[in-house]
Parts: sequence; C-alpha cells; structure tokens
Amino acid sequence: MNIAFNNHKPVLLEAISKYESLISDGSNIFDGTFGGGGYSDYFLKSKTDVHIYACDLDQNAIDYYISNNSKSNKLQLVKSNFEDYISFFNSSFFDIIVADLGYSSNQLDFSNRGFSYLKGDEVLDLRYNTDDDLPAYQKIRLLKTDRELSKVIFQYSGETFSSRIGKNLFAFISANNQVIYVSEIVKSIEASIPKKFMHKRNAILSRVWQALRVWVNNEFDSLENFLVTSLDKLKPSGMLMVTCFNSLEDKIVTKFMRNASKKDIVDDFGNTEQFFEIITKKPITPSDLEIQNNIRSRSATLRIIKKI
Ligand SMILES: C[S@@+](CC[C@H](N)C(=O)[O-])C[C@H]1O[C@@H](n2cnc3c(N)ncnc32)[C@H](O)[C@@H]1O
Repeated sequence: MNIAFNNHKPVLLEAISKYESLISDGSNIFDGTFGGGGYSDYFLKSKTDVHIYACDLDQNAIDYYISNNSKSNKLQLVKSNFEDYISFFNSSFFDIIVADLGYSSNQLDFSNRGFSYLKGDEVLDLRYNTDDDLPAYQKIRLLKTDRELSKVIFQYSGETFSSRIGKNLFAFISANNQVIYVSEIVKSIEASIPKKFMHKRNAILSRVWQALRVWVNNEFDSLENFLVTSLDKLKPSGMLMVTCFNSLEDKIVTKFMRNASKKDIVDDFGNTEQFFEIITKKPITPSDLEIQNNIRSRSATLRIIKKI
C-alpha cells in the first residue's frame, strides 16, 4: 500500500495504561486487534522486557506497520483472526489480553473497501480480510430471499426499517451482476426510508452499515469464541480488556463477563468459588478531551475482567 496510511489514534489508551503495573519483565501480552499498532506500541515502549503476540485480519495493517517500524524481537505480529491465534497458546500464558473491536480509522479512511456510507465511489466490500470469503455485495447475492437480508440487518443493528431496506436492497443487488458501489447502496436505502423519517437518514445508514459489516466478517461469533478461549489463557491476576464500539457487541461482552464472574460450585458440599472478578462495574468511556480529539472514540466502552 503506497498511499498515506496513518490516521490512527488508539482509543482509551490512557485508561488501559493505568494497568501498566500488571506488566513486569517477561510479561506476555496478547493484542488481538493490532490495527495501527497503538496498543502494542504502548506496551512495547513500556520499560520492561515484554513479549507481545499480536494479530490482525487485515494484511495491509500488518504490512504498513512492518515497513514503517524497525523490527523488534519483542513483537510477534501475524495475520490471523484473534479467535484462532489465541487458541495456539498454553493455558495461563498471558498477563494482559486486549481487543479493540471493529474497524480502524485507517481502514475507514484508506482501505477503499466501503467501510463508510460517505465513500460513495468505493465498492461495498466491508471485509477486514480480503483473502477470505466474498465482498459484501457478492455475499448478499448468495442469499435466497430478501427476508434473509432483512433478518441480517435487524439482527446485527436492530434497525426498525430492516424489512423495507432488505427488500429493496436485495432486489437491486440481485438484478445487477456488476460490482456494486457504496453510493448505489445508499440510494437504495434512502428509497426505503419513509419521507417523515428522512431526518434519521444518517443513523439508519450507520446501522445498516454496521449490520452488513458484522455479518460479512462474522464478528459476533468470533468475539464470543475469543472471549471464552481468552479466560483460559490468562495467568492468575491477568486481565482481559475489551473495547467495544456498539451496543450489541458491548452487550455480548457484558453478559460474558457477568457469567464468568459468577461463583461456581467447586465440591459435593456446595462450596463455591469465584474465579474471575469484573474490574469495571461500569464501562470506562472516553473523556470529553479524547472525544474532541478523536470523534470516533465517542461510542467506545472498555470493560475489564481479572482472573483471581
Ligand atoms: C479498532 S481497530 C484496532 C486499533 C488498534 N488498537 C490501534 O491502536 O491501532 C480494530 C482492528 O481489528 C481488526 N480485526 C477486527 N476483527 C478481528 C478479528 N476477529 N481478528 C483479528 N483482527 C480483527 C481490524 O482489521 C482492525 O484493524
């Protein structure tokens, strides 16, 4: 990738840095969503001798980082889904596991894969990993009915007009055997919004985009699998930190952490033990200053759970 590719501002890094005391010489850290490397870079620059195991689904993110940074033997960076990569490690291996979900600002601005409804001339691709699966518009063509598409939109965004949007979008994409551009999808969605709700256009477009992206990348299944495996990979006192950008993924993380922190029965006498403790009773959210400097951070929530 030759174009400028540096627009990333790691979200909620200040909050994460408060847990620096967890890191000591020899600590192992897992960064499941490397992106522009903001979180990994922070850990790399901490004074101690840490080992960072990082992955991203997007080869461009990895290539860009490698070609712009000197090699460090503290960082192992691979192209992988976090749910797969974490499963390679031994139990009780990591002091910190971080995941900063969704897409990066670099992907939004420079990937040319239609991550924003504002990028009319980009193809509706929406994949993090372009070596796998199909771009969004082709995946939609594989659906059998408009109801399947409406269901995807509703399930992954809760959009009220999902039926009308799914119907029109499916008809448009199925009738067309060419590459489909973002501007064409926007037009089809706009035609599905009743006139008196047009003032909600931007929110509706954002929701549909979220739904299609989550579906194309199978984001919620990956997240659920990753969360389950992560707990096993934490050392005692180790922490899992997850940053979410929408209420549906935050719900998955909250429910998961709540269940994991429940007391388990450990013997025939009904004695119970708690194995994990929620550190963030309420999610950590960005300060006004962070939101001012990085508007994308406004919807971020950070939740942390600790192995006892
Ligand atoms: C919000 S960005 C991460 C930003 C990063 N923390 C930083 O400071 O630059 C999310 C990144 O996660 C990647 N990603 C999304 N889902 C993934 C998954 N299941 N496995 C691995 N990487 C994933 C995306 O390609 C994107 O680069």
